[in-house]
Amino acid sequence: MAKITIDGQTFEVDDKSTILQAAGANGVAIPHFCYHPTLSIPANCRMCLVEVGTPKMDPATKQPVLDADGKPTIAWMPKLQTSCSSPISDGMVVKTQMSSKLVADAQKGVLEFILINHPLDCPICDQAGECPLQNYTYEYGPGATRFDYDKVHKPKRVVLGPNVVFDAERCINCTRCIRFCDEIAKSPQLTVVNRGDKNYIATFPGEELDNAYSMNVIDLCPVGALTSRDYRFRARVWEMSATPSVCSGCARGCNTNVWVRDNQIMRLTPRQNDQVNGYYMCDAGRLDYNWVNAERVDGAFARGDGGGVLEPVSYETALGIVANRLRGVAADRIAFVSSGHATNESLFAFAKMAGTLGVELLDLVPHERGEDDHLLLRADKTPNRTGAMLMGAGDGSQIGALIERIRSGAVEAVVVLEDDLTVDTGLTEADLARIPFLVVMATNTSATVTAASVVLPAATFAEQTGSFTNFDGVVQKFRPAVMLKGLSRQLNPDLVMSRLDRHATVWDSWQNEDKKTDARPSWQMLADLSVLLGKPFGYNRVKQVMDEIAGSVAAFSGVSYKAIGDIGMKVPLPTTAGTGEPVGA
Ligand code: SF4
Ligand code: SF4
Ligand code: FES
Repeated sequence: MAKITIDGQTFEVDDKSTILQAAGANGVAIPHFCYHPTLSIPANCRMCLVEVGTPKMDPATKQPVLDADGKPTIAWMPKLQTSCSSPISDGMVVKTQMSSKLVADAQKGVLEFILINHPLDCPICDQAGECPLQNYTYEYGPGATRFDYDKVHKPKRVVLGPNVVFDAERCINCTRCIRFCDEIAKSPQLTVVNRGDKNYIATFPGEELDNAYSMNVIDLCPVGALTSRDYRFRARVWEMSATPSVCSGCARGCNTNVWVRDNQIMRLTPRQNDQVNGYYMCDAGRLDYNWVNAERVDGAFARGDGGGVLEPVSYETALGIVANRLRGVAADRIAFVSSGHATNESLFAFAKMAGTLGVELLDLVPHERGEDDHLLLRADKTPNRTGAMLMGAGDGSQIGALIERIRSGAVEAVVVLEDDLTVDTGLTEADLARIPFLVVMATNTSATVTAASVVLPAATFAEQTGSFTNFDGVVQKFRPAVMLKGLSRQLNPDLVMSRLDRHATVWDSWQNEDKKTDARPSWQMLADLSVLLGKPFGYNRVKQVMDEIAGSVAAFSGVSYKAIGDIGMKVPLPTTAGTGEPVGA
């Protein structure tokens, strides 16, 4: 550790840090553009300039030279230093823009230079409202331009790849995007072209910016030069609520923010969690949200006696049909099929329901594995297969026998939790049509929903409080970002509100019940079913489910939503026989 003084305040800091890092760790903000904690440090934007001094040392005694007050005499460096690239040393004294006019003037000058050729695009720029250049200009920049000449014009609306659009006039050449592709994505697809005031970034000839992590450059870009083809011009940041959540695209469980306007998800962005995903997420996960907005199972459905078509029925009627039918079927002729897409809480309640009915045919659909890579992507594309195993809802090892029983007509009733039986099981729609009583708790329409006798509408991860356990045993919680029918954002403290939400009236579209899905968390539907079956689980709130999990699943001992917090809580995983590897790995 070392002691440094910043703006008159002395701090004890890690002696391996730079001035910018030491200041940031102690709540002192130094404006910066090109520095990012995960990237190399080129020190090219010059926004982070500070005055730096070190104690004068007596060459004879090797001790600091003291002034008349007995304090060390400071030798100030002749020029301002870039704080992002300057390592600290013991006794160092730093003056930031808060205590040095020299620094404040220099930063103002840097901003004036950057803005000379920067277009006045803020009113139509996606980055407005979350733009460091905009914010620093308000805080530290000049109030007006002194540049009376035409700005240099550069290419606009350049499609760099499938997911990213580039505006060269907005680029400030910080090179964050280039360094990300080189150093993190390991896919060097960007470079700087031209010189002086004509330079900007471009892909190499014949190349596209199309790596699996390309959209992270949008978050990294400190201006609106790189924008998302998916999200472009769809919403302003101040119109949306941002709710901390977890990606459901694979077993990594990258931490995200879910951005919602008009009760629809507009975009997902990564949220920092050093033990799971660092600062980043993959493009596939970022774009995996439309299924929450569209093609939802909205309300309950059931077929009339003797078959017929699926028709909307009340939730209570649907549950009543399920309870009556299951009561009359022998336990060994019922199969329960769970899913790595469901939450820990729903999987626990599902396994408990199977136990209550005495059902032993219980397993999950182990979906086909996809690609994994050096960074985040996991081959397992379900977010909670580890959780399913820990909750006793199956690990996929018995699914072959279970599917065979279904196909051979040996089961009379099949209950499916949030999955499609025709995906990765070998079962066809014709097989499903032969099941006498098929119940599915589903978030979206699917072949299983079409074939079902009763459909119960399930909430997605974005509409409920719940948790997933990732491949590494990190239990992570999410909270509702999108409202379900009958819920009010204003009355539910779990829901984040945007400025629009705070000032909405019943006539505004984002208050409209038509934009809400009629669904419930699966654990809640199973708890309601348990009441009808005369063996009530006694759950009214999801916290009661988690408390029961903590009390009955050994690996979850001590787990609570409070303990999980914003960054998750790691639970011990059983190891695979033979390899000794944790089962989720
Ligand atoms: Fe920096 Fe953005 Fe320009 Fe890339 S596009 S160099 S991130 S300003
Ligand atoms: Fe989602 Fe997996 Fe991509 Fe992370 S790596 S963003 S969890 S799909
Ligand atoms: Fe230090 Fe850019 S952040 S020079």
